[in-house]
Amino acid sequence: MTEETFKSNRGVFDAVVFANKQIRQRFYRLGLEFSGDGAAAFAQTRPGQFAEIDLSDVKLPPKEEIAEDLQDSAERKVLLRRPFSFCDVISQRGKTRVEILYCALGPATLRMTTLSAGNSVSVIGPLGNGFQMPADKKTALLVSGGMGAGPLIHLAKAITTEYPQVEVTAFAGAKTKTELPFEKPLDEISRQLGFALHEFAMYAVESQLATDDGSIGYKGFVTDCFSQWLGQQRSLSANDTIIYSCGPEAMLARIAKIAEDKKIDCQVSMERMMACGIGVCQSCAIKCRVEGSDEMVYKLCCKDGPVFDSREVVF
Ligand SMILES: Cc1cc2nc3c(=O)[nH]c(=O)nc-3n(C[C@H](O)[C@H](O)[C@H](O)COP(=O)(O)OP(=O)(O)OC[C@H]3O[C@@H](n4cnc5c(N)ncnc54)[C@H](O)[C@@H]3O)c2cc1C
Ligand code: FES
Repeated sequence: MTEETFKSNRGVFDAVVFANKQIRQRFYRLGLEFSGDGAAAFAQTRPGQFAEIDLSDVKLPPKEEIAEDLQDSAERKVLLRRPFSFCDVISQRGKTRVEILYCALGPATLRMTTLSAGNSVSVIGPLGNGFQMPADKKTALLVSGGMGAGPLIHLAKAITTEYPQVEVTAFAGAKTKTELPFEKPLDEISRQLGFALHEFAMYAVESQLATDDGSIGYKGFVTDCFSQWLGQQRSLSANDTIIYSCGPEAMLARIAKIAEDKKIDCQVSMERMMACGIGVCQSCAIKCRVEGSDEMVYKLCCKDGPVFDSREVVF
């Protein structure tokens, strides 16, 4: 397809699949490679930014491989592109490789599972604003729920590479062990050393797990695990700390409240259904406060976000 550049750093590009690995029952890691202008555009991707992927022409898996609860929705036509953020971006020798951690839960993501090396997809991006880096902070705390882990893995890499003086700790939660979107939690010895997840440990980032049913890690919500941990950090200075969070909205609301109570800066990555992804259709409104007044405004998740200061969002 024709490559049309919207701005110098974003556009519509074709990407070639280099990997699509199943990591858990419904979780996959998709690798896309860009060349030419696409490689230059995606090389600039910041953690928390996203892309809109066209999956309309991709085939569904065979019926017998589709989970019972997805059989009906699987047949729905995929007219609109779907938004995905990245868990890694690597640029080398004129090519840029991005990786997406995804969950097969509907017609588009089920189609995504059938992509294999050499297939091509159309991608619009990189879109949105991304997380602001913790230049003036000493501690960054990353809290994810479910699929929210992807952009925080990317963020962990960016902070540890660009701001090595910042100490990063990650918290990841899910309903149960099998719904954690990671390849495999680390062994008991690693956990005792503070490293529960390989995806964060590879950047020397300590991590903790929480599952609602206690099948692994802390038993309960990741927000409670995080709150408990925070309460034990006697030497942590609120001014020198920042919280980054991505996951279900109820979880983000709770994190925002914890941050407000502790007077810690906090950025949340919001999700909305997105029709265009570029600020045209107005389908992704987020109710926000106007600083210093009682006024409320609607901002666009795709254009003004998806990352917002948690104080700004009206949950
Ligand atoms: C900025 C952004 C980044 C994202 N990054 C990722 C990612 O890295 N990995 C990943 O697996 N998913 C990500 N998503 C969600 C992903 O876009 C949806 O899972 C996907 O569109 C589902 O398409 P589908 O046709 O398979 O299922 P659908 O039938 O479209 O959706 C299945 C179910 O999920 C709900 N849903 C779908 N999209 C959203 C949404 N945006 N907000 C709230 N509920 C939704 C639907 O209401 C429905 O109940 C992201 C979404 C946004 C907005
Ligand atoms: S998705 Fe169209 S304006 Fe945000």
